[in-house]
Amino acid sequence: MKLIAPSILSADFTRLGEELRAIEAAGADWIHADVMDGRFVPNITFGPMVVEAVRRVTALPIDVHLMIAAPERYIADFARAGASTICVHVEACIHLNRTVQLIRDAGVRPGVVLNPATPVESLRWVLEYLDFVLVMSVNPGFGGQAFIPNSIARIAAVRRMISEQGLSTLIEVDGGVGAQNIGEISAAGADVFVAGSAIFKSPDYRRTIEDLRRLAGG
Ligand code: DX5
Ligand code: ZN
Repeated sequence: MKLIAPSILSADFTRLGEELRAIEAAGADWIHADVMDGRFVPNITFGPMVVEAVRRVTALPIDVHLMIAAPERYIADFARAGASTICVHVEACIHLNRTVQLIRDAGVRPGVVLNPATPVESLRWVLEYLDFVLVMSVNPGFGGQAFIPNSIARIAAVRRMISEQGLSTLIEVDGGVGAQNIGEISAAGADVFVAGSAIFKSPDYRRTIEDLRRLAGG
């Protein structure tokens, strides 16, 4: 099952409620919410208050991607705001295992994110505790960037590690995903596809999501 997760980073925030209803009606599977603190990444977006507002508008799972330093400080807040999944960056966590546990104890499905230059090997001893791995295919911080080509090999390496450990962990991919590359990304082993500009800059959300799903093979 291939899942499409529109990133609201590229939505029109003056009409966020309408945008959410439109992507839900268009067949989105997850709502991807990019939280940035101006420190872990060079951009600032929004916090739990906006996630809580999103929760009131949609019944879809909200996938909270924390691009913040020391994310353990805010897990409880995002859980309370209605996050369905929360993922934290390997690079931002000193005690990654503890932070993953904190997410699960808060009743939220945990994921771990790898920046483009972070060794896939860093997942080895945490993988069995995760519901999903998020492979960044751009340097986090902004929408609309170009897909980094060796992300395909990294996705395949994560897929191999998941099979070797006999797990059913999902692989999510984030950054520069669109009709031009989703087939190849899917073939490398990805299950969940974040798409910001590819969906929100398109004239017909339903058509775009259907095309992406078809090109991803299901
Ligand atoms: C980047 C964010 C992405 C972003 C993707 O830091 O994590 O979720 O919204 O945007 P596109 O799909 O436009 O590359
Ligand atoms: Zn993201």
